Amino acid sequence: MTSTPPDPHHLPSRRGALAAAVAIGGAALLLPGCARSEKNEDKKGGEEGVEVGATEDMMREHGVLRRILVVYRASAGLLRQEATKIDAHQLVAAADLFRAFGEDYHEHKLEEAHVFPAVKKAGGPAAALIDTLIAQHARGREINAFVVDRSKTGIISAGDKVAVADALDGFARMYEKHAAIEDTVIFQAWRKSLSPEALKDAGETFEDIEKVQFKGDGFDIAVDRIAAIERALGFGDLATFTAPPPPHLGSNV
Ligand SMILES: [Fe+2]
Ligand SMILES: [Fe+2]
Repeated sequence: MTSTPPDPHHLPSRRGALAAAVAIGGAALLLPGCARSEKNEDKKGGEEGVEVGATEDMMREHGVLRRILVVYRASAGLLRQEATKIDAHQLVAAADLFRAFGEDYHEHKLEEAHVFPAVKKAGGPAAALIDTLIAQHARGREINAFVVDRSKTGIISAGDKVAVADALDGFARMYEKHAAIEDTVIFQAWRKSLSPEALKDAGETFEDIEKVQFKGDGFDIAVDRIAAIERALGFGDLATFTAPPPPHLGSNV
């Protein structure tokens, strides 16, 4: 089963505004100190009356990237079993989505251009992490390029499957920590370094960048793309990711 991955920049959005609003509302409930304080400061969401703060916007972008990491880990597991089990065109599609939405937009145009310089200028423990985060962006670009190179024919050769699986696992391990540190340390330090007016301006700037980059709502487009990739690879059913029950207490494993 093979298919040619579409260009993630030019896919129509099919995701409803209400679904986005529900997701945004849930995040707001979990992050009262973050989302509520920015409620009047940042860009409009997908439904009237729902607004997405600049930091929350980047955190939900991490949600898309984490779904790609899940695809990477699950694909690595299948590759270790048998390379031909994977439709490598879909792996290319996942890496291309990470490049367009993660590397070119989220990392390069938001974090490296706006967030990291401000955090570094503010100083403190968060500033000390910036060089490592930038180095991890660069390493991620190397790994995604490698994955695309070895997957572009649609079949990953037997000789490449372990190296590709190792690259996918290594990328996922790195970026899980990377995104978690950004969510909990960097974005919070960035938000605190800005006045309410500057934060509002940043949110509007980010929205403008997103519209230019994707010719629409980049988040909705990216969610549609990763959902299609998950379905194509057989990773689309959330229930299949429910962990098995643990051994009974007292039993020897
Ligand atoms: Fe980053
Ligand atoms: Fe990030």
